[in-house]
Amino acid sequence: MVNSFQFARIPAIHFGNGIIARLPAFASQFGRRLIIVTGKGSFLNSQQAERLFTDLKKDGFVWQHFIIPGEPSPEIIDQSVNAINDEKIDLVIGIGGGSVLDAGKAVSAMLYKSDSVKEYLEVTGTKTHPGTKVPYIAVPTTSGTGSEATKNAVISQTGAAGFKRSLRHDNFVPEIALVDPELTTRCPADITAASGMDCFTQLTEAYLSDKSGPFTDALALEGLKEIRKSLVRVCIDGSDTGTRSGMSFAALTSGICLANAGLGVVHGFASSMGARYDIPHGVIWEPSCLLQMTLMSGIAEEWKC
Ligand SMILES: [Fe+2]
Repeated sequence: MVNSFQFARIPAIHFGNGIIARLPAFASQFGRRLIIVTGKGSFLNSQQAERLFTDLKKDGFVWQHFIIPGEPSPEIIDQSVNAINDEKIDLVIGIGGGSVLDAGKAVSAMLYKSDSVKEYLEVTGTKTHPGTKVPYIAVPTTSGTGSEATKNAVISQTGAAGFKRSLRHDNFVPEIALVDPELTTRCPADITAASGMDCFTQLTEAYLSDKSGPFTDALALEGLKEIRKSLVRVCIDGSDTGTRSGMSFAALTSGICLANAGLGVVHGFASSMGARYDIPHGVIWEPSCLLQMTLMSGIAEEWKC
């Protein structure tokens, strides 16, 4: 017997080495006026970025470029949206790690709205977001949060009154997740390790969640198999596109799984700690390692490994 379950939408997924070259073609179905959101680091200095911006220009796209230096705060989202004012935008593209993808997702959801994003955050907000947005393409350059497939953007404020809260709606799942594992080969080992642990935890917690179902269980197990094959190896040799593709697949599946099955106590702990002490949650894996190992022992038993 299959118990009742729900499975929400997922993006159109395009996965493969070198697929970033097709981004202008995917973008053109929405229009030619873009917002491009990136981090300040490695992608912008890459040959892929140079080629992408050349191709976009050649194809007649115009764009505004926002650089997100860290985890997105309410202020940086509000400033970005206000800079656009009433100008018509056809598509938002986020290219970067989880923070950049969340920022792009929040910008796409907040364009043409007069309130601060704070008003729509879970728990602390006072308003319900209607789900209206500008289409969004997410292009990850790290393998961790799975934001390319989720319906929420984490907005952070650090300090004693700090918080990490989600802007969430089913409509916020990106229209397209363009996953090119080659883009992750420039990701340094420390970020590769932290984002990999984040991904590992997301798959584990989603698998053990009481909201999991046959779809999420199947995907979580496939993702965990790739983690087992690739996580340690990719931290030793980040240039290996084989292990990079394994981690990109695991991150993508972790996003689909967490969007549909939820997360657990490790993420709850990391979220509170990260808001208080400005630590990215993928880095808070050492103190929560025992919790993860306890959770994993349940899977290992079921998985016969
Ligand atoms: Fe996470």
